[in-house]
Amino acid sequence: MNEIRVGIVGLGRLGKVHAHNLAYNVANATLYAVCSPLDSEIEYAKNELGVKVGYTDYEDMVKDEQVDAIFIVSPSGLHCTQIQLALKCGKHVFSEKPIGLNIDEINETISVINQYPNQKFMLGFMRRFDKDYLYAKDLVEKGELGDLTLIRCYGIDPSDGLESFVKFAGSSNSGGLFADMSIHDIDLIRWFTGQEVKKVWAIGKNAAYKELDDVGELETGAAMLQLGDNTMGILVAGRNCHHGYHVETELIGTKGMLRIAQVPEKNLVTIMNEHGVVRPTSQNFPERFSQAFINEANDFIECILTDRQPSVNAIDGLESTKVALACKESYEKNQLITV
Ligand code: NAI
Repeated sequence: MNEIRVGIVGLGRLGKVHAHNLAYNVANATLYAVCSPLDSEIEYAKNELGVKVGYTDYEDMVKDEQVDAIFIVSPSGLHCTQIQLALKCGKHVFSEKPIGLNIDEINETISVINQYPNQKFMLGFMRRFDKDYLYAKDLVEKGELGDLTLIRCYGIDPSDGLESFVKFAGSSNSGGLFADMSIHDIDLIRWFTGQEVKKVWAIGKNAAYKELDDVGELETGAAMLQLGDNTMGILVAGRNCHHGYHVETELIGTKGMLRIAQVPEKNLVTIMNEHGVVRPTSQNFPERFSQAFINEANDFIECILTDRQPSVNAIDGLESTKVALACKESYEKNQLITV
């Protein structure tokens, strides 16, 4: 086999990015089929991406013998069931984060993954495939920062998506701010330190859209994490960033510190005009992590073709979700939570 035929489920904000990459930017992959409950999304894939087969029923797609691998980019609450079904039908599986929203369901999914050791499973923590995060990881591994003592992470979505989020927050389950947004930062903290989180304390505030209080969602949240070796983590998560998409990470060690995207710059251009000195900022996740999404998809396909285990696995999904759900519980109970 030297070409992997992929079927993708979900063609929303991120599904379209993955589908486009699989159709045009990923080596040795063919975007063969798509699945969406919306005819308009299937038509988009046929017209814009040249996809041959469209399904409205996920089970039909995973039973298609022409499909080798499934990309899951559907709402988070569906991931576990869809992962299990695809594996049982003999497919390799890439799933977007979070792996699931319920720990029992994630554990059940992990036991299904373990029953199919010859099929690859990879989780979409794409920041691990971003060149700047990889550069920082290399510095940490070479000991340039000494022993890590604290990691501070910002993950704030643009405010232009907030209004529609407020509108649909009651009907869609994002898993809450920490499972939806901070999960990437939690994964990075585990990746950089090799440690698990033992305690969390989370707080939050809804100020622009107080109605989010009624549906248990947060506009801005913060959490302090204590890791196994007492390294500290600080998370700032939000959905109300007026200058664009703000993802910033700081690592502090005994010999030095570094920041990744200290200002979320779009490019190297500086504009000088009546507003002063202006640096354009990245506006959304497809723009900021465009190459990382391609890199992770290339890695998944390569893992299948070379029979290599993906570096981001279901345990990463389980551990990060445990921490995110502990943050949610801490915020809701206003208590320190042991993970
Ligand atoms: P979205 O709401 O824009 O799209 C959801 C898609 O799933 C739509 O195409 C919808 O038609 C489809 N869908 C809904 N119900 C379905 C069902 N029963 N069966 C099959 N398809 C169904 O959501 P978005 O923002 O694209 O997020 C999708 C997933 O990707 C989420 O799990 C989210 O956490 C993750 N995500 C990850 C990001 C990252 O940075 N890695 C960024 C954005 C999203």
